[in-house]
Amino acid sequence: MQTKTLNLETISEAAELIKAGQLVAFPTETVYGLGADATNETAVKQVYLAKGRPSDNPLIVHIADVETVKKYAASLSPDALKLMDAFWPGPLTLIFKLKPNVLSPAVTGGLDTAAFRFPDNQATLALIKAAGVPMVGPSANTSGKPSPTTAEHVLHDLSGKIAAVVDDGPTRVGVESTVLDMSVETPTILRPGGVSKDEIEAVLAHPINDEQHHVGIKEVPKAPGMKYKHYAPNAQVYIVDQPNDWPAVVRWINHHPQEIVGVMGTDDIINNIDWPENARVVSLGADVQSASHRLFDELREFDNHSEVKSIFTQAFETTGLGEAYMNRLNKSAGQSHFDQQMMENAD
Ligand code: TXA
Ligand code: MG
Repeated sequence: MQTKTLNLETISEAAELIKAGQLVAFPTETVYGLGADATNETAVKQVYLAKGRPSDNPLIVHIADVETVKKYAASLSPDALKLMDAFWPGPLTLIFKLKPNVLSPAVTGGLDTAAFRFPDNQATLALIKAAGVPMVGPSANTSGKPSPTTAEHVLHDLSGKIAAVVDDGPTRVGVESTVLDMSVETPTILRPGGVSKDEIEAVLAHPINDEQHHVGIKEVPKAPGMKYKHYAPNAQVYIVDQPNDWPAVVRWINHHPQEIVGVMGTDDIINNIDWPENARVVSLGADVQSASHRLFDELREFDNHSEVKSIFTQAFETTGLGEAYMNRLNKSAGQSHFDQQMMENAD
């Protein structure tokens, strides 16, 4: 199959493909998604095959109006209505209990809930409206790889496996939406993302819960996607927790002259260090916003340089967008930190 590149001008062609049960990757403000008609079970099953995604990991249903959510959700609480009003369209995904038998188990992974998202992207909202059906949309990457933030990333992973990609340039946020479970008594964040816990609590005027700290120790994580290996480039990523650790990183790089070593940090760090010749240094920009925007793109870029075996990447505080950034970085690093032992090996 030849994968077509479409845009806002050719959105009707993309909509025809969706209606015909084909797969079309679409832009959002967070990352690119892999779209299929959520009401067509055969099409939804193709999404899992194209991504190589485990079939028990449910998909987000992308909608372009609140009415569609009302059609599927068993009920919407006053909290839910407040959040939709405040954050939609935008990077907040809400999980609701469903009415019986309204969505295929291929979408829900057999759960009695589904995740709904109203993306903030004109091309994709036009696509959903033109297709006249909600669209499932996992991130449009091969399962396990960093999520795609450009149409080129999508084509790298899925060219020949999908009918088309709608190209709308690089995404704005760079990390995925926040997944918030509204089917439990106290709303609970299952995945931190583009909307922070503080922003949600400010709208609700009461505290919410945060499950992510427990994921990994529980047998069945609430968001099934959290248990799989994620965002991993070919090289090993090491998290550099403290600004004071960078001089030891430089010594470590000097002690490994036979390796090309990747470095990812903000401008204030990378511009103030005299890097060894064998360092391949990449800027994350000024702050956690730019770092989140660039993280996946730069991790993918390192995959084009097979000689890089280790990548040292700057940590941020886990507040605001830093929660989402650190969640993704921890997964791509498999929890590996530049630690005491590596520092000693550098001395
Ligand atoms: O920003 C985003 O959310 C992107 C763009 C394309 O919209 N989509 C995305 O989808 O990140 P995906 O499939 O890569 O991640 C969805 C996450 C997974 O961790 C999945 O397990 C969880 O949401 N999820 C989906 N439905 C769920 C449900 N009913 N209950 C619990 N978790 C659910
Ligand atoms: Mg994903």
